Amino acid sequence: MGRGTIWDRVLQKKSIKRLNDESDERESNGQSLHKSLNLLDLTCFGIAAVVGAGIFSTLGRAAADGGPAVAILFLLTAIACLFSALCYSEFASRIPVSGSAYTYSYVVFGELIAWLIGWNLLMEYGIGNSVVAFSWSDYFSNILNGMGFPLPDWLQNDYYSCSEAAGKTGELKATDTKLIEIWNSAPVIGTLRIIFDLPALALNLIITSLVYIGIHESKMVSNAMVFLKLFVVIGVIVIGSFYVTPSNWVPFAPNGATGVLQGIAAVFFTYIGFDAISTTAEECKNPKKDLPRATMLTLAICTILYIILAFVLTGMVSYAELRVDDPLAVVFTKHNLNWLSGIISLSAVVAMASVFLVFQLGQPRIFMSMARDGLLPQRFATIHPKFKTPSFSTVVTGFAVALPIVFLNSQLVTDLSALGTLFAFILVSGGILALSDTDREHGSEAPGFRVPYFNGKFIVVSLLAIYSYFMRSMPLNHDLTRDWSAEKIPYFVFYAVFVWLAAMTWVRRWSLIPVLGVITNLYLIAGIGHLNWLRFGVWCAIGLVVYFAYGYRRSRLRLNE
Ligand code: ALA
Repeated sequence: MGRGTIWDRVLQKKSIKRLNDESDERESNGQSLHKSLNLLDLTCFGIAAVVGAGIFSTLGRAAADGGPAVAILFLLTAIACLFSALCYSEFASRIPVSGSAYTYSYVVFGELIAWLIGWNLLMEYGIGNSVVAFSWSDYFSNILNGMGFPLPDWLQNDYYSCSEAAGKTGELKATDTKLIEIWNSAPVIGTLRIIFDLPALALNLIITSLVYIGIHESKMVSNAMVFLKLFVVIGVIVIGSFYVTPSNWVPFAPNGATGVLQGIAAVFFTYIGFDAISTTAEECKNPKKDLPRATMLTLAICTILYIILAFVLTGMVSYAELRVDDPLAVVFTKHNLNWLSGIISLSAVVAMASVFLVFQLGQPRIFMSMARDGLLPQRFATIHPKFKTPSFSTVVTGFAVALPIVFLNSQLVTDLSALGTLFAFILVSGGILALSDTDREHGSEAPGFRVPYFNGKFIVVSLLAIYSYFMRSMPLNHDLTRDWSAEKIPYFVFYAVFVWLAAMTWVRRWSLIPVLGVITNLYLIAGIGHLNWLRFGVWCAIGLVVYFAYGYRRSRLRLNE
């Protein structure tokens, strides 16, 4: 079981050398995955994972709240993501094996934190994919309806929302009345009402089968989908620019900074996915070079497209008209280009399917890495003899995504998915700080991509001073000086960590970029609200129970010793 206290044991770290040796050993035993991805494939996977439900759907609300200034929010959020992307790139270049944030945390923070991050990546990829499936199903069902082949309502809604609406008393909203109708008219077997989202489940089945069959096949489909959606987004920009009326850009920020900031979560969601590239490290031909490049390229391409798109959309119609679920299609309907809006709806279906595909690829590879380390049963590490994919983990992922589709609803899982992602971003950024500290102490310089070093001392302390000064004029939950309530806990944690980071950066001359990565992602996580923090806490607690019941006793790192 290893030496030392229980704390020493659970925080035991894996060395980069050991990880690389294990990877070489698997390769010589023919137990590794197919190496078939080059820079173009990886960039396509990145764009496939990033451009999806966010830009085709949630952008509408963010633009309606923030006005044309939402374009600036896209830029600021991209800068926040850039900090994390640079950190992911350094890790991917130093540790070119699959597992992403899970594997990186094993090296820097030790086993327990690695387990927790792996457990939470299940939220980003597994649970996040049910969000994507729900949005995909909305668009798909609309297309079917438009073509005159409507599915029965009980096959295109989720059980949870209908049963919740059926239990409501008092004044009902129009959506509740509709859901109650579906509840009352659904077929019943025994006492169970049959209501489920058939298109979402079908998408899950088809994509899981594709991912099971092979990385090459997945790559071909993903590349084709990316070219199609880029074509459509660029088409929207080019055609849309002819319909821009500059007077729509005035006022630029109609609801002030508060209106713009209201869109943070939605805008952040549009960027999620660039980190998923790193889960495919084992299948890359040249991971050390191509992973960092693909991550940066993905972020750069998406940022440029998003900013231009935001300007074009808010220039085509008044910002207030964008409060819809399909803004890209709606702006063209408003200019009587219905054929174009039909094409856009069709491509939204393709765009979201590609996000689903990449997330569905990522999760099994994380399960596989955890099983190789002994933290999950060995079956999760099984590689299909013919397809060379983590077959058992892929099937389990299919079920893990199907469960929330059947039993939960979209709203419930969206916030949890963003929380899981941000948690991973914070640990990866923090991980770079811990790594570079160790590097400096040992005087070693690892080859490959490194996060550029700027001494963060003055900038971080200045930012803290500015934040402290403006805290009182920010929304009430930011202000820690008065009216204490539970809603302030996330902002209290944020502020406490900010102060600690500023002090450490001053003393240890920490690198600016990873420090800003931690600060910006922690700020975003604070905005997700204390109730979600509580849910997240419960999820982590369940994770700890699973770890101590299984992984703690079977960890290969300790058993080998
Ligand atoms: N960024 C991805 C999307 O917008 C998750 O769908």
